[in-house]
Amino acid sequence: MGNLRRREELLKPTERKKPVRGGEMKKGRRKAVRVKRPLEKALNRGEKSTIRLLVNGQEHVLRIGKRPDEVDPSHTLTFTLRETLGLTGTKIGCDHGACGACTVLMDGKAVLSCMILTVEAEGKEITTIEGLRDRESGQLDPLQQAFIDHTAFQCGFCTPGMILSAKALLIEKASPGEQDVKEALSGNYCRCISHYHILDAVMSVIRMGGKTDETSI
Ligand code: FES
Ligand code: FES
Repeated sequence: MGNLRRREELLKPTERKKPVRGGEMKKGRRKAVRVKRPLEKALNRGEKSTIRLLVNGQEHVLRIGKRPDEVDPSHTLTFTLRETLGLTGTKIGCDHGACGACTVLMDGKAVLSCMILTVEAEGKEITTIEGLRDRESGQLDPLQQAFIDHTAFQCGFCTPGMILSAKALLIEKASPGEQDVKEALSGNYCRCISHYHILDAVMSVIRMGGKTDETSI
């Protein structure tokens, strides 16, 4: 109970980010955002038979259809990442835009992939936890390393989403403060109550100017 209370202090309800239609995290009340879907219309009219996804720097051309290796227009981005592309680092918690476990980067911004249809992600650059390490050296991203160094997880289910939300913040802001971090992570829930360790891990990366603390490796 004490832990729960401390967690509530860390993430006050009014500060939590809520998802909006289209998957982007927004602060405050849920807003209705009109999503244009010309691609979906083209799919429904049968004018398009494939879509191109750019995931972790790799292009995938996927056929539209019902077979296991195809993308149904009703598939969410989470489903396609996990089931079609085999990128199971992206987790499904609620599948309803409430927990943040499915967070990925889309054009550098944190989005809830369970709230985005795969067809809406065509032409966007998607980064999942598998694509965060340096593509040439294979070295972990400083945030990944900091989570290990600070043992900022227990079961690890929320960890990919937490790291990608923090990554989006560091892309957006060179030197965010503690409050910025709390706000950026307020849409990500950790059932294991690891929030204080997570905050420590992210702040350590910020203190190091976005780099890994070499002394900790
Ligand atoms: S699985 Fe997407 S927000 Fe919970
Ligand atoms: S470490 Fe288990 S849910 Fe966060």
